[in-house]
Amino acid sequence: MVPNTTDSRAFGKVSVVGLGYIGLPTAAFIASKGIPVVGIDVNQDAVDSINAGTVPFFEPGFGELLARVVEDGTLSAQTEQIDADAYIVCVPTPFREDHSVDIKYIRAASEALAPYLKPGALVVLESTSPPGTTEDMAKHLIELRPDLSLNDEDENAIFVAHCPERVLPGKIMEEMENNDRVIGGLTPKGTQLARDLYATFCTADLLLTNATTAEMAKLTENSFRDVNIAFANELSLICDRLGIDVWELIELANHHPRVNILQPGPGVGGHCIAVDPWFIVSAAPEEAKLIHTARNVNNGKPQWVIDQVLKALEGKENPVVAALGIAFKNDIDDLRESPSLEIVKRLGVDNPQLDIRVVEPNVEALPPVLSNLSNLTKQDTEEAIAAADVVLLLVNHRQFVGLDQSLLDGKTVIDTKGIWR
Ligand SMILES: NC(=O)c1ccc[n+]([C@@H]2O[C@H](COP(=O)([O-])OP(=O)(O)OC[C@H]3O[C@@H](n4cnc5c(N)ncnc54)[C@H](O)[C@@H]3O)[C@@H](O)[C@H]2O)c1
Repeated sequence: MVPNTTDSRAFGKVSVVGLGYIGLPTAAFIASKGIPVVGIDVNQDAVDSINAGTVPFFEPGFGELLARVVEDGTLSAQTEQIDADAYIVCVPTPFREDHSVDIKYIRAASEALAPYLKPGALVVLESTSPPGTTEDMAKHLIELRPDLSLNDEDENAIFVAHCPERVLPGKIMEEMENNDRVIGGLTPKGTQLARDLYATFCTADLLLTNATTAEMAKLTENSFRDVNIAFANELSLICDRLGIDVWELIELANHHPRVNILQPGPGVGGHCIAVDPWFIVSAAPEEAKLIHTARNVNNGKPQWVIDQVLKALEGKENPVVAALGIAFKNDIDDLRESPSLEIVKRLGVDNPQLDIRVVEPNVEALPPVLSNLSNLTKQDTEEAIAAADVVLLLVNHRQFVGLDQSLLDGKTVIDTKGIWR
């Protein structure tokens, strides 16, 4: 392994494009090494918040780092692109109705940065992308700037690479520096330059490959998780039918030295695991049978949970449900692709007679998809549980794990995370 030492002066200025959950911490970590970073975002509110030293989302411990690099002038944010030595693109890569990737944000970012590109510049795509996207972005840049080249040997060459991000929201302060990174250039020099850039702040192993393999590596990691969670979720349905406690079953099976079953839950959410496997399915639909089935198993779990709630409320007059948690996982405020949010929304929309008390300690207010529903209110944990016929635990936030369980006496409890066993 090549040691992570590099001459940070090789990067006089870095532009990080897209200042969300991934781009902003990346920008701040690079800036913390004394490299001037300008963050670019189309969202003026995010830009203003960052320039005031305030993180526009919830990430434990990150506020201090951001405030420090903004105050010392190493990091600033703006909406206009700049002339930089390296660009790191961290814009969203959502999927369309048919589950194929929508690259419109990458296209827009490329169009904004192309006029500023100069020979020798490095462009790294960090956004999670299907195989071939980095090459497609590079070709698009050359279409926009035919005076530049993608050939390492040319004087007017630019260098393009992919370096996927695998940090866990909530643990970014630890993982941004300490997670191994896969880095794949379109050309050997692109790989090398990208390695030099990430070596400025990443202390873990930098694993070098080509761009397409790097793209596929990220998708593979998340598909591995998705398939394994689907196995646990399928077990939870089987166990329910057979009258077996799935949590005890998994605990027992995991005593086998080569078995490590993951935990079931209300479904799979977030911007990564619930999305990335679709990019493999749409790239190779004939072959990706297991990955596709796993997606369907995990996507089917919310409806199963809804059916459990409705069954538990059968015959109840003026039924009240306390729904605990709407984030996609524990101890964060990220609601993207959240199965818990989906469950609460569908329960509310399809059952106007239900009085649903929603508890989510990590958000100030309910998102509009929920706050627009008249049968739904946001409440404190104790208040919601006291009023409820059914307590539906959807997310294992620490507040719920540490709950005084005597509050649940006399309630019907549906615990999708197995925390109150
Ligand atoms: N959040 C995660 O945990 C995570 C982990 C690994 C990888 N990723 C991947 O990283 C990428 C970014 O994800 P995120 O979670 O940071 O998204 P995000 O939605 O939090 O942030 C994206 C930012 O990009 C900005 N943006 C959109 N178009 C732009 C443009 N043309 N120019 C400049 N800014 C633009 C948005 O305003 C937003 O602030 C995605 O591909 C995602 O799959 C995310």
